[in-house]
Amino acid sequence: MHPDRNLPREALSFAADRLERALEPRARPVEIVEALELPQRLPERGVGEMAALEQIAEATLERAAQLDNPGFFAHMDPPPPWITWITALWNAAVNPNLLHEDTGAAARRVERRVIAWLAPEFGMDGGHVVPGSTMANLTALWAAREVAGIRRVVASAQAHLSVRKAAVILGLDYEAAPSGADHRLDPHALPDLTDAAIVLTAGTTATGAIDPLDAGGDAAWRHIDAAWAGPLRLSRHHRHVLEGVEHADSVAVSAHKWLYQPKESALVLFADETAAHDVMTFGGGYLAVPNVGMLGSHGAAAISLAATLLAWGRQGMEARIDADMARADRLARLVARDERFELWGPNRSGVIAWRPRQADPAGLRDSMRHAFVSLTHLESGTWLRSVAANPAADPDAVFAAAVDALGDSR
Ligand SMILES: Cc1ncc(COP(=O)(O)O)c(C=O)c1O
Repeated sequence: MHPDRNLPREALSFAADRLERALEPRARPVEIVEALELPQRLPERGVGEMAALEQIAEATLERAAQLDNPGFFAHMDPPPPWITWITALWNAAVNPNLLHEDTGAAARRVERRVIAWLAPEFGMDGGHVVPGSTMANLTALWAAREVAGIRRVVASAQAHLSVRKAAVILGLDYEAAPSGADHRLDPHALPDLTDAAIVLTAGTTATGAIDPLDAGGDAAWRHIDAAWAGPLRLSRHHRHVLEGVEHADSVAVSAHKWLYQPKESALVLFADETAAHDVMTFGGGYLAVPNVGMLGSHGAAAISLAATLLAWGRQGMEARIDADMARADRLARLVARDERFELWGPNRSGVIAWRPRQADPAGLRDSMRHAFVSLTHLESGTWLRSVAANPAADPDAVFAAAVDALGDSR
C-alpha cells in the first residue's frame, strides 16, 4: 500500500487522545482565538504527518468552541454524535463522488434511501442532499422558476438572508411581506402571488417563530424553509408545529442543525420530485448518470445521516429533540419568573430570546464566566439567544451564569 494510505495505528491513537483532551469540559465553552501558531508562508519542506497533526490539533481542535459544553446554549450548530465522526473518517478515506456511478454507487443508494425515509415525514415524495439550507432554498426556488415560471419571491421580513440571496442569484424580484410582533408572517398582508413563490419559515433564525404554513394559497409555488425546525416532524409531540408543511411544493431542512449532523448536510425535498429534478438535470460526455441539482463532484453527507438514523431510529431522534425542547422550556421558565430578566416570547421551536432588563445584553454575555449564548438583533434592540441544539446544555447553569454576570456588573 502507498504510505499515504497506510494509516499507522499510532496515528489513530494519537487522534483519539487529542480528541479526548479537546472534549474534556472547559470552564469557558468559547475562547477568543486571536493568533494561530501556523507558518506565515507556504512551507517549503514538510514536517511529516505526526508533527503536522500536532500543529493542527493545537491550532484548531483544542481551540474549537465546545458545542457540547453544558454552558453552551447558543447557536444552531449541534455537537454531532460520535457515530458521525467515524462515518466522516470513512468517507474521507474512501472518498466517494456522488456525481459518478463508478465512484459513488453505494453512497448514491444510501442517499436515495435516506430521502425515502425522511421525505414522507414532510408529505414530500423525494429530493436530494445538499450542503446546507442556503443551497436547499436556492435549489427549491430554481425548481419554482423552471416548473412554475415564478418571477418573484415573497417571504416575511423575518426570513433568512439565503432566501433573498437565492432570488438575486436566480434573477427574481424579492419582496418582504410584513410579519407581526410575534415574528410570524401576516397572511392578510400578502400581495398577489400568482406569479410568485411564497417562502414560509418554520423556525426563524432570530426567534424560532413558525409562519402560518398554509398562508399564500394563491402562490404559484409554496416553499417552506424548515432549515431549523423541520426535524420537529420526527417528534410525535411536536410534529403539529409544522402542520401544513405537507401542502408545500418544496421544503428545506438542515441536517447539520437539528438532526445533529456534522457540516455540510441538508435536504431539499419536493412534492413532485420528477418534475423538480427534470428541470435541473444535465448530462453529457463523460457522465454515465445525469447530474441533478446544483452540485458537481460532492461527497456522501447522507452516510453519516443514515448511520445516525439507523443507530437511533425515529424514536431515538424524537427523544433527543423532545429533551432539547424541554431544555428550551426550562430556560424560558427561569427567565420568565425572574423580574430582572425579560423573555421575548414563548418557546415555539427551541429558540429562546431573552435579556436583562437593566443591563446591556452584549456586555452581559461577554462577562458570563461559564456559559455562552448568542446574540440576536431585533426591532426592540439586542437580545440574548439560546438555541436548543446541544443535548448536554444545562439551562439552570446558563441562567445562573447570567445572574452572576448581572451581579458582577453592579
Ligand atoms: C431559517 C433558516 N434558513 C436557512 C438557513 C441557512 O442554512 P445553512 O446555514 O444550512 O445554509 C438558516 C441558517 O441559520 C436558517 O436559520
